[in-house]
Amino acid sequence: MKKIVCKDYEEMSAMAADVIAFQIKSKPDSVIGFATGSTPVGAYKRLVEMDLDFSRITSFNLDEYYPLERDNPQSYYRFMHDNLFGLVNIPDGNINIPDGECENPIAECEDYDKKLIKIGGTDLQILGIGNNGHIAFIEPNDDLPLATGVFELDDDTIAANSRFFENAGDVPKKALSMGLRGIFNSRHILLLISGKAKANAVKRLLDETVSTQAPASLLKLHPKVTVIMTEDTQ
Ligand code: GLP
Repeated sequence: MKKIVCKDYEEMSAMAADVIAFQIKSKPDSVIGFATGSTPVGAYKRLVEMDLDFSRITSFNLDEYYPLERDNPQSYYRFMHDNLFGLVNIPDGNINIPDGECENPIAECEDYDKKLIKIGGTDLQILGIGNNGHIAFIEPNDDLPLATGVFELDDDTIAANSRFFENAGDVPKKALSMGLRGIFNSRHILLLISGKAKANAVKRLLDETVSTQAPASLLKLHPKVTVIMTEDTQ
């Protein structure tokens, strides 16, 4: 795991955008896994300013709330279109995001998982981290899922993500999310971490143990992870 500590959010975002831009320029038909949340917003903004060619990029997003309509301002579909996909030349047909308004979530997840396996995993997977150490919506637990599935959100996660919704009761209790296989099948994982609220999760990420109670700690087992973090997370 390569760890880069930045002085602030702007520096982290600039470095992250450079890593993503390098991937796009060196392999114009890359498969890229995108993350949502407040952390990658600055990197996406910079990517848009770089005016890169996304015409042959294929994207797979980590997750989506369930159930939630695409048009809901808090859907990850909307987030990705407002912050990146709507601002670059990625073809609609190359975009993959689990469908939060599907009628059969189990079939939707199986289908998503099959697509991920068929494409051979992502070249670059961007990740954030939850305050409780979750990645995507893989929450701390005794057993963690390998496949894309319908997962329940922890109370901690609902509380943390309620800042985006009008009230905590509006946060969906479930999500459709990649499992560990989808994330670990990436050839390069780029983990972005910013802010004091992540300090506990960072401790578990950097110590010499792994635990399913801190899902991000498992990333220590992946051969190529770049962590770009701000100094206040430590
Ligand atoms: C959500 C997402 C995660 C993301 C996390 C942290 O729970 N499912 O993929 O990493 O939020 O978000 P933020 O960057 O806003 O702290």
